[in-house]
Amino acid sequence: MGLLQGKTAIITGASSGIGAGIANELASEGANVVLAARRTEKLNELENEIKEQGSGNVLTVQTDVTSRQDVEELVKQAETTFNHVDIFVNNAGQMLSSQVLSGKVDEWEQMIDVNIKGVLFGINSILPSMLERSSGHIINIASVSGLEVTKVSTVYSATKFAVRAISTGLEKELAKTGVRVTNISPGMVDTSLVSGSSWNNERKKLETKDIAKAVIYAVTQPDYVNVNEITVRPV
Ligand SMILES: NC(=O)c1ccc[n+]([C@@H]2O[C@H](COP(=O)([O-])OP(=O)(O)OC[C@H]3O[C@@H](n4cnc5c(N)ncnc54)[C@H](OP(=O)(O)O)[C@@H]3O)[C@@H](O)[C@H]2O)c1
Repeated sequence: MGLLQGKTAIITGASSGIGAGIANELASEGANVVLAARRTEKLNELENEIKEQGSGNVLTVQTDVTSRQDVEELVKQAETTFNHVDIFVNNAGQMLSSQVLSGKVDEWEQMIDVNIKGVLFGINSILPSMLERSSGHIINIASVSGLEVTKVSTVYSATKFAVRAISTGLEKELAKTGVRVTNISPGMVDTSLVSGSSWNNERKKLETKDIAKAVIYAVTQPDYVNVNEITVRPV
């Protein structure tokens, strides 16, 4: 029997990369998984893959995390299907043109909407029911770019510093409520986010399952243990 049998997890940005890896790993531990992103064909492919492995129940909900209504509907559908949600992984994110000198204001707005507002919408939608049950776990996928800034990462880093600030403040707000918060800061992971960017260097990259394992570690600790921060970098 898996470590998460009977638990339910929502994963945003589950249509590719790290989110798909996290969904797969949670399902292989027996969790019901709710897959959220905009590209439904990709979500359906993952749903079939998980079902073929016989890993668990899957629900797919097309979601744009920049839409508050979409995120509220996502939680509603998950709760209707699986009764309640134990784990909410705020993973959806974008890394676009980040130098202030580039002047690409539309891309900055997009990153702010997805990476910051999307995370806040997710938290706001799931928190009331977690507080009511005095139980739940929110995982925010930040980045090592939320720990350090380079000359090409200014705006992306700003959004990921914000994710860490949200995780840190929320953990303090939620002390003694039974709801846990974990902030995960990955280094470079082999996904389309990196392969499509100029940040793609020749160093060995992490695999998506390396981040998924960090999620499993955090959510399988005893109830009284809150793993606040995990940073995972390639050697
Ligand atoms: N790869 C790395 O090296 C790395 C390092 C540190 C942190 N991260 C973080 O890890 C997370 C996942 O990134 P990844 O590397 O796996 O990249 P990815 O393969 O490009 O995946 C990004 C995911 O976010 C979803 N997404 C984007 N905009 C969305 C929106 N408006 N609404 C809903 N979903 C949206 C995408 O789905 P749709 O397009 O289908 O909506 C996709 O599933 C991001 O937060 C990223 O910042 C990545």
